[in-house]
Amino acid sequence: MCWRKRIWRVPRTSGASSELFVLGCGPIVTHIDVVALAGDGIGPEVTEAVTRVLGGVASAYRHELTVRPHDVGWSAYERHGTPLPDTTLEACVRGPAVFLGAVGDPRADGLSPEKRPEAALLQLRRELGCFANLRPAKIDEQLVGISALKPEVAVGTDLVIVRELTGGIYYGTPRGAEAGSDRTVNTLVYTEFEVERIARIAFEMAGRRRGRLTSIDKANVLEVSQLWRAVVDRVAGDYPDVSVGHMFVDRAAMELITAPTQFDVVLTSNLFGDILSDEAGAICGSLGLLASASVGGEVGLYEPVHGSAPDIAGQGIANPIGGIRSAALMLSQSFDLQSEARALEDAVTTVLAGGLRTPDLAGPNDTSVSTSAFTDAVVEAVALGGARVGAASAEVSP
Ligand code: NAI
Ligand code: MG
Repeated sequence: MCWRKRIWRVPRTSGASSELFVLGCGPIVTHIDVVALAGDGIGPEVTEAVTRVLGGVASAYRHELTVRPHDVGWSAYERHGTPLPDTTLEACVRGPAVFLGAVGDPRADGLSPEKRPEAALLQLRRELGCFANLRPAKIDEQLVGISALKPEVAVGTDLVIVRELTGGIYYGTPRGAEAGSDRTVNTLVYTEFEVERIARIAFEMAGRRRGRLTSIDKANVLEVSQLWRAVVDRVAGDYPDVSVGHMFVDRAAMELITAPTQFDVVLTSNLFGDILSDEAGAICGSLGLLASASVGGEVGLYEPVHGSAPDIAGQGIANPIGGIRSAALMLSQSFDLQSEARALEDAVTTVLAGGLRTPDLAGPNDTSVSTSAFTDAVVEAVALGGARVGAASAEVSP
């Protein structure tokens, strides 16, 4: 039976590895092939939720799904003596897409920097060449009441933080304690090339959105920020339809909570983006809501913005939405499955509209549900959406 027609489109990243395109009528099967790095703390809980919703999408839209688990973070260190085993890195480099739950464990606190779980994340991002981290923060209308901000300030927040991910102070050398001295050093360094390529990603995105770009730096104090600002101004010349503003990061931290709706695309460096995106989580209601896509290399890396949340790990109460929305970004960016990505986003909205809340989202009058109950509801909503898609195309395709 002919249930859907599709037109060939080249994926934005070279992610989709094995797609069977049938010209004319017939089912189009995409192989959604994902390396899953569950990691630590709530990482495995969130990754299980994502695996299940991807299964729901694959079944509703009749795609093939392969999820290939690998170790990372503290759990990898315990098993292999390193937070990023070679087998994990090799699988990730082969791609086509990687989902990462979270890394981090208090038991790693005493380890040397290269053995800590977070080192795996930094190395992975670097090896994959994912220099652009896209972090959408759009407030759900059902959750305005739990925003850290007054409703009249929070309503309408809809921004994307474009964070440089493979440079800056997280990677600069020299770093570490200096031998024979009481000094410890980190180095902030950016090249023009690094700033230009992330700026272009942000300008392109602003052009597809509301045409406003705010570049955030600390150019009143840091020479590196002065370079950043000059490069952004130069690149702006190629995007006459995008209006550009610059803001110091301390001011931006304030403006984000006093007037968040002024922001459309926020372009910033690795460190500032890390900090400001947690603030965006508080505006939206919970850090557990925010998703991210790290792109720019051959393989896309998708991870919720939150960490391993050791305070709630193992209780089955983690909010899976950040992970699920990261999976939607993966479907869209790495597999060019736009309808499926929208269906997943819509399924989350439907479930929130139905009143289901994990504890971090629950207001005083809400009963909260577990990670798995919330995930069940999303899978069900995807199935219903998928059934509608099938029914609609059956109507037009005798
Ligand atoms: P965190 O993001 O893990 O937690 C901050 C707060 O938000 C906690 O109260 C936590 O319970 C809550 N929270 C986070 N995600 C949630 C979710 N999905 N549902 C409900 N509540 C949620 O940040 P924290 O505590 O600073 O770091 C904990 C560990 O995670 C550290 O080892 C840190 O290095 C690591 N980390 C890892 C990241 C990653 O894997 N990408 C990112 C940020 C931190
Ligand atoms: Mg962070």
